[in-house]
Amino acid sequence: MSKGKLKDRVAVVTGAAGGLGAEAARVLASHGAKIAIIDINGEMADKMAAEICTKGGEAIAVATDISQEASVKLMVEQVVGHFGRIDILHNNAAILSNEQREGDRDVINMDVDAWDRAMAVNLRGAMLCSKYCIPEMIKLKRGSVINVASGLGAQGDLTLSAYAASKAALIMLARSIAAQYGKQGIRANALLIGLAPAENAHKSMPAEMLQIIRDNHLTPELGTPKQIADAVAFLACDESSFVTGSTLSVDGGFGSHTPSMVAMKSLFERMGSNKM
Ligand SMILES: NC(=O)c1ccc[n+]([C@@H]2O[C@H](COP(=O)([O-])OP(=O)(O)OC[C@H]3O[C@@H](n4cnc5c(N)ncnc54)[C@H](O)[C@@H]3O)[C@@H](O)[C@H]2O)c1
Repeated sequence: MSKGKLKDRVAVVTGAAGGLGAEAARVLASHGAKIAIIDINGEMADKMAAEICTKGGEAIAVATDISQEASVKLMVEQVVGHFGRIDILHNNAAILSNEQREGDRDVINMDVDAWDRAMAVNLRGAMLCSKYCIPEMIKLKRGSVINVASGLGAQGDLTLSAYAASKAALIMLARSIAAQYGKQGIRANALLIGLAPAENAHKSMPAEMLQIIRDNHLTPELGTPKQIADAVAFLACDESSFVTGSTLSVDGGFGSHTPSMVAMKSLFERMGSNKM
């Protein structure tokens, strides 16, 4: 990737105080973008913005609860007040706390508050950020909205039903935006992300569970935040100027093989077959 391909562009990155959002912010900044670090965790957002500035980039932090319309409206006013424009919106934030995961289960055992929180943050938050950022992009006749989906938004699983439904809806939200504002220069796409644990997140997962997930990725290893961030940078810049309304899988092939493949491979191995 060439340096400077996002020179002078302004990117709003939600959930950028840590994890994949922080890495996306770093990589977008490395390509020349000015970054608005948006997160409910204001202290961590400040640290992230300071990190980018220390490395010679430009960034501000705006503590925002993206599920609240007034908070998002104020955030966009602050970003435009500071940088004068918005070119890129990376809808990355999601509520993924342990409390949330415990409540967001199979449908019969769903904690309805967890369902509502998932929809409010993951889905309504992305809609609200789009609602207030897109008019700024239309002024420039150019813009890129990047929604973060997940394999769970495309395939059924045993738990996290609210998270999964919100992620599926984010794919559709990107298509709606692409259809509605494409003629005004706005592109919108979704990223379907595989497991790319940030920082030490994977250390909290039981090793056996991690191995099952690793086996179901077609790549030698799970993803890294940098690999995801590089795909964000691609969708943000002009190299993807003819890509809109699409869902780009950045999942190490997790969603592209037959559901039986891993079990079959193990069966062949046990049978001493040379089929694999
Ligand atoms: N890490 C992975 O392997 C993986 C896999 C598939 C999809 N994803 C998706 O990637 C995105 C980032 O995941 P992550 O692992 O970095 O998660 P994370 O929990 O580390 O980061 C999420 C960020 O969102 C912020 N946030 C939560 N509620 C908010 C609110 N109301 N307003 C503003 N900010 C809020 C949190 O403070 C946090 O900084 C999420 O959308 C997630 O669903 C991640």
